[in-house]
Amino acid sequence: MAQQLESYIQEHEGRFLEDLKGWLRIPSISTLPEHAGDIRRAAEYAAGQLRGMGFANVGLIATKGHPLVYGEWLNAPGKPTLLVYGHYDVQPVDPIELWETPPFEPTIRGDSLYARGACDDKGQTMLVFKAMESLITVNGALPVNVRVLLEGEEEAGGESIAAYVQEHSDRLGCDAVFICDTGMPSKDIPVLIYGLRGITYTEVEVRGPKRDLHSGEFGGIAPNPLHALALIIASLKDAGGHIHIPGLYDRVRPPTGAEQAFWRDDPLGIAETLREEMGTGYVGENEYPPLERLWARPTLEVHGISGGFVGEGAKTVIPAAAKAKISLRLPPDLRSEEVFALFERRVKELAPAGVEVSVTNIHGGEGVMVSPDSAPMRAAAAALKETYGKEPALTREGGSIPIAALFDEVLRVPVVMMGFGLPDDNLHSPNEKYSLAQFFRGIRTVASFLQKLA
Ligand code: BES
Ligand code: MN
Ligand code: MN
Repeated sequence: MAQQLESYIQEHEGRFLEDLKGWLRIPSISTLPEHAGDIRRAAEYAAGQLRGMGFANVGLIATKGHPLVYGEWLNAPGKPTLLVYGHYDVQPVDPIELWETPPFEPTIRGDSLYARGACDDKGQTMLVFKAMESLITVNGALPVNVRVLLEGEEEAGGESIAAYVQEHSDRLGCDAVFICDTGMPSKDIPVLIYGLRGITYTEVEVRGPKRDLHSGEFGGIAPNPLHALALIIASLKDAGGHIHIPGLYDRVRPPTGAEQAFWRDDPLGIAETLREEMGTGYVGENEYPPLERLWARPTLEVHGISGGFVGEGAKTVIPAAAKAKISLRLPPDLRSEEVFALFERRVKELAPAGVEVSVTNIHGGEGVMVSPDSAPMRAAAAALKETYGKEPALTREGGSIPIAALFDEVLRVPVVMMGFGLPDDNLHSPNEKYSLAQFFRGIRTVASFLQKLA
């Protein structure tokens, strides 16, 4: 049977990729309203995949925002039920001029497939679909019961799925959740994730003079919102990576002894892999090891600043307003709403004379920690060992998947986070890609995981 499964996967590699490419051609950018139609098409595409595999009750679930995709295969009586989560939305593509091939024309170069969403999360979701398709075709059945729930708003904060899970947890009965939306430090370091950071994403707007002013006519007496914004940002975090928001660090949970040792020694060289990918040295709180800074410390980042004159040439203007997008990553125990309140208060305190500052909470999500000792986690570890030939490491990730915490809290079942992205996959950046080897190994690993779970 293992042999038949292997032959099926080998024979159908080409079509598996074509099915992924078809999905990647749909520009399902959740944060941009003009792509609402594409979002719907991407959701329909996923539903089509589920129907094609013989899933029942497949359909889109309407929400206040983008639809969820649901489907179930519940023909394994007496076996556990797995809830598979993924997201079919993607990040915006700008700066578009840096893409070597267009983001929504999936292209194979070298041993990778390039497109927005190739990894995050269409590629990773599709590999779970193809593992299930292979099992159903070869064995006539899945070894466990499966419910699939996909969202189309993950990259935009995930509000709709959160509301659905809270209201309809009765429809999501399961023994474990599986999320394939994380990565591995390198193609030969398999990992299982037991912790993610949360996030608070904000916009800070600074308003000054009632209109743009001539900087000679008014300079010296007029407040400059862009400069005020720069002062605020500079005061929020110093060059040593310390964030100056009173109360922020109060609830940072100290690492366990084992974590401390692993992060300090970094026996797998994970931090160095990431450093090479950055192409710079480390910055930040250098009194903590890099892995601790990545996985268990709060961070504050500026994502963009707008205002004033940025065209060619010169314009002597004092702008009437300026804006910045700023987010904080939060280790588990720091609550997103509470951190927003601390942030807002501090930003307002920092506002210099003559300007008005408003702070908007764009979205937030909680971090999560799961136990590595559950049966589903052990099944996933055994599957990784089988396909990668070595015991997976238990690590955290610095990124956020807001629904993971909610699954943990509301469904109260183990949440398995096992993904196959690599640090050079260019997530959220130009030339996003997915390693073909990781895609196909992912299919084999997930097929094995489902069998071991049974
Ligand atoms: N798949 C990522 C999260 C991720 C990235 C986990 C890398 C582990 C390693 C997810 O799609 C993502 O980008 N999440 C956002 C969440 C936010 C928009 C609420 C993030 O982390 O920025
Ligand atoms: Mn993702
Ligand atoms: Mn993402």
